[in-house]
Amino acid sequence: MSNIILTGDRPTGKLHIGHYVGSLKRRFELQEEGNFDEFYVMIADAQALTDNSGNPQKVRENIITVMLDYLSIGLDPNKITFFIQSDVRALPEITAYYMNLVTLPRLLRNPTVKSEISMRGYDSESRGIPVGFANYPISQAADITSFDANIIPVGEDQLPMIEQAREIVRSFNSTYNSEVLVMPNPVLPQDESCYRLPGIDGNQKMSKSLNNCIYLSDDTDTVKQKVFSMYTDPNHIKVEDPGKVEGNMVFTYLDVFSKDEDFEKYYPEFKNLDELKKAYQNGGIGDMRIKRFLFEIMEELLNPIRLKRKDYEKRIPEIIEYLKKGNEKANKKADEVLGRIKKAMGIDYFSSDIFEKEQIDKYNNN
Ligand code: TRP
Repeated sequence: MSNIILTGDRPTGKLHIGHYVGSLKRRFELQEEGNFDEFYVMIADAQALTDNSGNPQKVRENIITVMLDYLSIGLDPNKITFFIQSDVRALPEITAYYMNLVTLPRLLRNPTVKSEISMRGYDSESRGIPVGFANYPISQAADITSFDANIIPVGEDQLPMIEQAREIVRSFNSTYNSEVLVMPNPVLPQDESCYRLPGIDGNQKMSKSLNNCIYLSDDTDTVKQKVFSMYTDPNHIKVEDPGKVEGNMVFTYLDVFSKDEDFEKYYPEFKNLDELKKAYQNGGIGDMRIKRFLFEIMEELLNPIRLKRKDYEKRIPEIIEYLKKGNEKANKKADEVLGRIKKAMGIDYFSSDIFEKEQIDKYNNN
């Protein structure tokens, strides 16, 4: 069996460091490991429209933004096929066939969909749930299975989507007595502390609407200002005061981003994070000092990303070309899988002469 990796993002805004540790970094690692036959990254514009129907301009504006984010973290267009979801003609057709295999209650039980429904206020009497929105897990199952993808690097919040795709694969293969669809498997970040990076304000989630993100494209001054405004321990007022590490965002981020080598370089008084945490808890470490340390570490991560981005911003036609080529390749692949799907369902009437012969025989014998 071949290894086919597929993943994607909704183009609704620039990507932040929560996206980076929660899913982008794992993609880069998979790319560098090189253990794959095909690698697809989809810009899920059609999915973005399921809750942005009134704002297609936002989706349009963010196609290249997201491409720049991908390229600037080192995703390689020579290894990865980038494409745009709405340009793949087979996807809505495949989605339509899968819709017959899933019940409405099952869709609405999907925990990610459930929480998104309440976040967007679709559960209020006056609004209601757009059908296309409720349906997006089925469309996502089509995204995944139309490429025979077996490896799906995603953030933790996407696990219910992969589970639902797996159910659809099982159901399709057994209903149509076939082995046509490939079973997808999620791949999460290597380190559990990366699953969900909280916002700089201490809120559970880093999110544009909460205005608590550090973006991959933020400049040095912005990153500095954000790191120095991070939520720490409100009771740690004087340097000598003992400080709390739990719930202190600087330490939460150091857990995710710092390595022992960073101490040698930027904070030689301590050998590692455990030592620094102990000292902070005992008192005597100022918030400014730990913030400066975190800032140095963030800059070491973000500066190369920024430089790459600057370079790619001058090469927009090249990026457009990657997408056009990617769309072509993606259409070819998905058409092939659609052919197999229709064959398994027995609705491939004119792909061979079998249907014609069958019907001639039927009416001749009467
Ligand atoms: N739902 C994903 C997100 O919001 C985006 C997505 C669309 C996706 N299709 C996909 C992810 C297929 C993985 C595989 O981030």
